[in-house]
Amino acid sequence: MIAWLLLAACDDEIFAAVDHGAVVSGDTYDDVATVFDGACVACHTGATPAGGLDLATDPCVDLVGVDSPDYGTPYASPGDATSSLLWLKMSDADPTSWGGVMPPSGALAATSVDTVAAWIDAGAACGADTATSGAEP
Ligand code: HEC
Repeated sequence: MIAWLLLAACDDEIFAAVDHGAVVSGDTYDDVATVFDGACVACHTGATPAGGLDLATDPCVDLVGVDSPDYGTPYASPGDATSSLLWLKMSDADPTSWGGVMPPSGALAATSVDTVAAWIDAGAACGADTATSGAEP
């Protein structure tokens, strides 16, 4: 099953339109937006984005502290990635509660998932004012 998923994820014919993008490390919203651009916006954009979630048009303020109407939990809960829907779906932590993994073609590299977790755990700041998080040990 795992092998099939890996093969499928690399199959250009099936997933040509949905690239996983580059592996992204960091903890700022800019880093998170790079993850979104590479692996999420193919589906999460336009007039009827997948799951009603637009990840293309600078969504930070629509994510932080905002509950998903479908899952009743915040997309990003500042300081707590493990109760944030973005991380719960990307990490496939509990598919029974949170639905299928995102992206549906298979989880991203752990480094990219960790980038989203690190941004949330550092307070999920929007915009450029996230420099202080880099000063922590
Ligand atoms: C191939 C299309 C596709 C890609 C790529 C994709 N998604 Fe999704 N996403 C969906 C679909 C379809 C749903 C609705 C089903 C569900 O909730 O699981 C969804 C739902 C979601 C939801 C729940 C939205 C809500 O409030 O109901 C989140 C959060 C999410 N996706 C995050 C992501 C993230 C983050 C990425 C990139 C790492 C991503 N998705 C990539 C198709 C996609």
